[in-house]
Amino acid sequence: MSGAETYYVTTPIYYVNDKPHIGHAYTTLACDVLARFKRLDGFDVRFLTGTDEHGQKVEKSAEAAGMMPQALADQNSANFRDLAARLGCSNDDFIRTTEPRHIRSVQALWSRLVEAGDIYPGHYEGWYSVRDEAFYGEDELVAGPNGGKLAPTGAPVEWVKEPSYFFRLSAWQDRLLAYYEANPDCIGPQSRRNEVISFVKGGLQDLSVSRTSFTWGIPVPGDEAHVMYVWLDALTNYITAVGYPDQSGDYARWWPADLHMVGKDIVRFHAVYWPAFLMAAGLQPPKRVFAHGWWTNEGQKISKSVGNVIDPVALIDRYGLDQVRYFLLREVPFGNDGDFSHRAMVTRMNSELANDYGNLAQRVLSMIAKNCGAAVPAHGEQTDEDRDMLGAAYALAGRMRDSMNRQMFHEALEAAWVVIRAANGYVDRQAPWALKKTDPARMGTVLWVLAETVRNLALLTQAFMPDASGRLLDQLGVPETARTLACCGAQSALAGGTPLPPPQGVFPRFVDEEGAG
Ligand code: MSP
Repeated sequence: MSGAETYYVTTPIYYVNDKPHIGHAYTTLACDVLARFKRLDGFDVRFLTGTDEHGQKVEKSAEAAGMMPQALADQNSANFRDLAARLGCSNDDFIRTTEPRHIRSVQALWSRLVEAGDIYPGHYEGWYSVRDEAFYGEDELVAGPNGGKLAPTGAPVEWVKEPSYFFRLSAWQDRLLAYYEANPDCIGPQSRRNEVISFVKGGLQDLSVSRTSFTWGIPVPGDEAHVMYVWLDALTNYITAVGYPDQSGDYARWWPADLHMVGKDIVRFHAVYWPAFLMAAGLQPPKRVFAHGWWTNEGQKISKSVGNVIDPVALIDRYGLDQVRYFLLREVPFGNDGDFSHRAMVTRMNSELANDYGNLAQRVLSMIAKNCGAAVPAHGEQTDEDRDMLGAAYALAGRMRDSMNRQMFHEALEAAWVVIRAANGYVDRQAPWALKKTDPARMGTVLWVLAETVRNLALLTQAFMPDASGRLLDQLGVPETARTLACCGAQSALAGGTPLPPPQGVFPRFVDEEGAG
């Protein structure tokens, strides 16, 4: 075990009622980029994803498909596991809530909550949305068609009346507010933090945490007529995966999680219910929950009934994996909603990846191949412009690290592009091709400054675009052992004379079938 600082990051676990779509891919990718960045930055990282397999929604979907819930879960969980692999995800674990380790963990947590006096038996009577797996108060509902009522999310609701255990959430209002207050970074972005705080200030009702009208769930210890509310079950996955109920070893090492990444629709579960359950059980709440926005498709809300669901695998097949990874994290300020469109995707691919980054690397590497004997050029005395260029490249690691610590992926990439654009301007002004005859030593210095700039860029884009960045580093002769973020900067600069392989483009232009874009 190394002495490195730990970083534990999680995705939500995905419902197995359906196939993976762009929303799932987005959350998982964001976590992967963070996990990779942190690993490159010397952290000992644990990255968890998985599937949420119990509850009424999954039970009903299985019924509709004429399958047993476990069979449906097995089939769809495999789809999510495959998607993570197709996305190039570096997750260390993939948890399923039907695994014995999880059932044991949830039942242990339940027993702790009972012992603590925070769970009591009663009756629930009220609205429930199976699609959201959420209870709603009358005052939260909105008008639906034909005088009916809908959840605030637009999901159908039904009236439920059944015996139920309750979690004493109302007793946690002040302690939750104190936790938010004492931990200014525990919810991001700020707008979501404000939303959560005002929700909690509005008063909390005890939460129904068991159901008796169906059976697809984890049995309540000592009262098997009840299965646990799927959100209590699901949230617990984050501690199961680090060994709970055993609190030594992995748990001590990784908990509390550094980051639960979630979509904006599930903030309340993660930032209100989850810390309350944990604190009631005498466990520490997570360090941070960050909520990202939602994607639309060509301006339209994504929905199965509209038939405009985006299949992430189809995107990868069409545009390329690194390109999709780049686009999703660059296109919208992380935390805001975003629109996926073919035109926006092609514009980013062609103008930013092919023209800006790709061209810079191509120009530099092919000039070196042609004019410097296929080896890193030697460099002589530096001008102010050289120093400015290198200074910008060397400052990038610090800039990007700061953005990544706030989950501002778009900002991190923009910082890289500021350097890329500056480097393209520097090439144009220095015109190394014209120096070949007049001042070959100066040409060597200019090309070295540029190669060094591309090296730093490629190190820092590895987390976002692992394949293309790796190939750039190969072409710069950077050994695998010199690809961590500690190698950004002058101390690991390229040594003149290092032999280089023949250059190859890594960011092809997208040529539209119709010739558009
Ligand atoms: N099973 C729960 C999470 C339990 S975590 C303890 C769940 N699953 S889900 O499969 O419905 O959704 C998972 C994630 O996908 C959520 O974070 C949600 O915000 C995200 N997205 C679903 N549709 C989306 C878009 N159209 N755009 C972006 N993300 C969206 O909720």
